Formats: sequence, C-alpha cells, structure tokens
Amino acid sequence: MKDVTVVDHPLVQHKLTLMRRKETSTAEFRRLLREISQFLAYEITRELPLTKRTIDTPLQEMEAPVLAGKKLALISILRAGNGLLDGVLELIPSARVGFVGLYRDEETLKPVEYYFKVPDSLNERVTIAVDPMLATGNSSAAAIDKLKEAGATDIRFLCLLAAPEGIARMQEAHPDVSIVTAAVDERLNEVGYIVPGLGDAGDRMFGTK
Ligand code: URA
Repeated sequence: MKDVTVVDHPLVQHKLTLMRRKETSTAEFRRLLREISQFLAYEITRELPLTKRTIDTPLQEMEAPVLAGKKLALISILRAGNGLLDGVLELIPSARVGFVGLYRDEETLKPVEYYFKVPDSLNERVTIAVDPMLATGNSSAAAIDKLKEAGATDIRFLCLLAAPEGIARMQEAHPDVSIVTAAVDERLNEVGYIVPGLGDAGDRMFGTK
C-alpha cells in the first residue's frame, strides 16, 4: 500500500490554522490555500525522476540535474480542487490540466459524472489529482476510477485535510495511490463533514455560503 504523507512543516501548520478559523475571509482563505498548495506540491513531486544535462555555468561545464521529462497531468476534482490548481501550476507550469466533476445521486448515493476532460496519454504521465477535502473518500475514489479508465497508472492524490475514514476508503479502493495532506483530522460528523475541519472548502474559497 502507498503511503500517506502529512506535511507537518511549521509554515503549513500555521497557515492551515488560519484557514480553519471561521473569521478568516474568503480572500484570505484563497490566498492561504494557494500558498499551502505549493508546499504540498513540493512534497508530492519529491520522487520525480531526475536525469543529468550538460550545462555551462559562468565558470565551467557541469553535469546538472534536470527533471527526466516525465510528463505531468494535474487533475482538479471540481469544484474545490480548483483552489489548489493555480498554486501547484506555478511550481510545475508545464503540467497538463484536466477536470473531473462528480455529484452524489441522492437516491443511489453513488457518484455521477457530469464533467470529464483530461489530457491525452495519461498512461505516460504522472497524474496528480487535487481536492482539498478527503472526507468520505467516495467521490475521490470514484474520480480515481475514472482516471484509471482513461489510462492513468501512476496516480497521486493531493489534499489539504483528510479524515481517517476517507484515507481508509481510498486505500481500500486504490492502494496504489499515494496521498499527501497537510493534516489528518479526528473524524467525519453525521453529515460527512471533517471535524474539526474548516467547513465547506468550496463555499469558503468561493464565498458561496
Ligand atoms: N467537503 C468539505 O468541503 N468539507 C468537509 O468537511 C467535507 C467535505
């Protein structure tokens, strides 16, 4: 089973605390999410392969490390995933971007796809799916199902907060997918919110509550 990495860097933890506070404004929430997304992206790309290229410094020639050219796909799980997208793209500007939209059918409780547009050749790419909240894990696991159906084989999942229940669900459905998060909270409440959490991430970043 792939691991769960909690990015416990003090700056991440401090910024996350600011995000959790109910007084934090929409603008501040968005700014903090963007900042944290870069620390999370740093961690999730830690094992990208490197190769050597010959370059000239002002002093001499050297064999210097560069990314080995493994192509990247960033997939936003709508809508809250979009809050993580820009920050991650700043670090890896050449990544291709895709979107997966799912909603929960209130009768069957199953995730239903309403939008799916992803880069081609996912089988040749490192695919990073982003969604701030790994709560029940049902929609995230369903999104990963769709990415695998589209050919993705090397998939990583980046979130801001996770519930133990969501991690368990993802690991059961997709043991090959590693998870990077800023924190693992206590539990889910009766309506599927992460506790203590930060509320509805989409509402908080888009000001729709
Ligand atoms: N989605 C959110 O935005 N917040 C939660 O706590 C759970 C799911």
